[in-house]
Amino acid sequence: MSIFWSLYVTVLTLGTIIALTWLLLATQKGQRKETTEETVGHSFDGIEEYDNPLPRWWFMLFIGTIVFSLGYLALYPGLGDWRGLLPGYAYVDNEKQTQFADGRTGWTGVHEWEKEMARAESRFGPIYARYAAMPIEEVAQDAQALKMGGRLFASNCSVCHGSDAKGAYGFPNLTDDYWRWGGEAQAIKTTILGGRHAVMPAWGEILGEQGVRDVSAFVISGISGRKLPEDAKADPAAGQKIFAANCVACHGADAKGTVAMGAPDLTLPAAYIYGSNFSQLQQTIRYGRQGQMPAQEAMQGNDKVHLLAAYVYSLSRKEQPAPSE
Ligand code: HEC
Ligand code: HEC
Repeated sequence: MSIFWSLYVTVLTLGTIIALTWLLLATQKGQRKETTEETVGHSFDGIEEYDNPLPRWWFMLFIGTIVFSLGYLALYPGLGDWRGLLPGYAYVDNEKQTQFADGRTGWTGVHEWEKEMARAESRFGPIYARYAAMPIEEVAQDAQALKMGGRLFASNCSVCHGSDAKGAYGFPNLTDDYWRWGGEAQAIKTTILGGRHAVMPAWGEILGEQGVRDVSAFVISGISGRKLPEDAKADPAAGQKIFAANCVACHGADAKGTVAMGAPDLTLPAAYIYGSNFSQLQQTIRYGRQGQMPAQEAMQGNDKVHLLAAYVYSLSRKEQPAPSE
């Protein structure tokens, strides 16, 4: 920073503080000492103002902020080139350094985040590592681990899966016992580590409008045993043939899905993530779907994912409370 700008900032900052102090003291001077019932004379919407001095505590609060600002400016770098009296350090390649690349010392905000992460790492790293060495099923029994996993879930997963992990439109429920990509502990961990990309092709152009209606009707009445709407104008029997020819490769001849592809079990309409009514089904089948679970390995690392997997695993295996009656 050039000397000019350094001086400019310093003069402006200190000048403002001095001016504010002067203003505070100057307005204090002419004021009466005792309180009164008189008003200053104006009225806005019937609200008037007493001609009273500033309460003492309020005045002291102002003084306090001025003293604070001076202390702050002395300790931290706020005045141009002034580095502040506080010592500072940073981690460069995991080594603690008190002098920075530009030769300066003293406090700097640049490395605060890294420092925080390094501190958290040295504090929690060994705990994460200890859990990572245990089988997921066992970690899922450990109250402290579940608490940590729950916190990781809240900050990394709840945006999509919900804070109760029950999912939402397009995002699967992680608390039920149905799993598109497998519900064993290791499968859950694989899902979280590497992410998943589901590909349900679009069938509108291939099957035509009537074909989409027919196969949707078959999914409702033939596969999930529900009633078709009165005005469906669709032929489930024709839909069954379409299903056998086009859908079983992924969803299976019994329509129970294929875990390896994340093709869901269509016999469980409650577990559909894109809706199960006649028009929602047509939408899904006509245009296809591409659900994406983002990979966490690069962001969280193996040990945190291990805890997350244990937490997710525990959600669907909570001991059911014994029926009370
Ligand atoms: C290439 C494999 C593949 C084929 C072929 C396929 N699907 Fe799918 N299907 C998937 C996958 C994978 C998903 C999950 C999509 C997602 O989660 O985003 C899916 C999802 C669905 C869903 C939505 C379920 C939900 O959770 O809302 C329906 C309904 C469905 N398929 C019906 C069909 C029908 C009917 C056919 C035949 C016309 C068909 N699929 C053919 C792979 C396939
Ligand atoms: C950007 C949104 C998003 C975030 C963030 C996200 N997920 Fe997912 N997740 C998805 C979607 C979408 C799917 C379903 C993919 C598909 O269509 O099959 C999914 C699927 C899953 C599955 C598989 C469910 C099954 O039925 O097999 C698990 C387990 C999972 N997520 C755990 C997590 C965890 C743990 C986190 C936090 C580290 C997380 N997810 C963060 C979007 C997200």
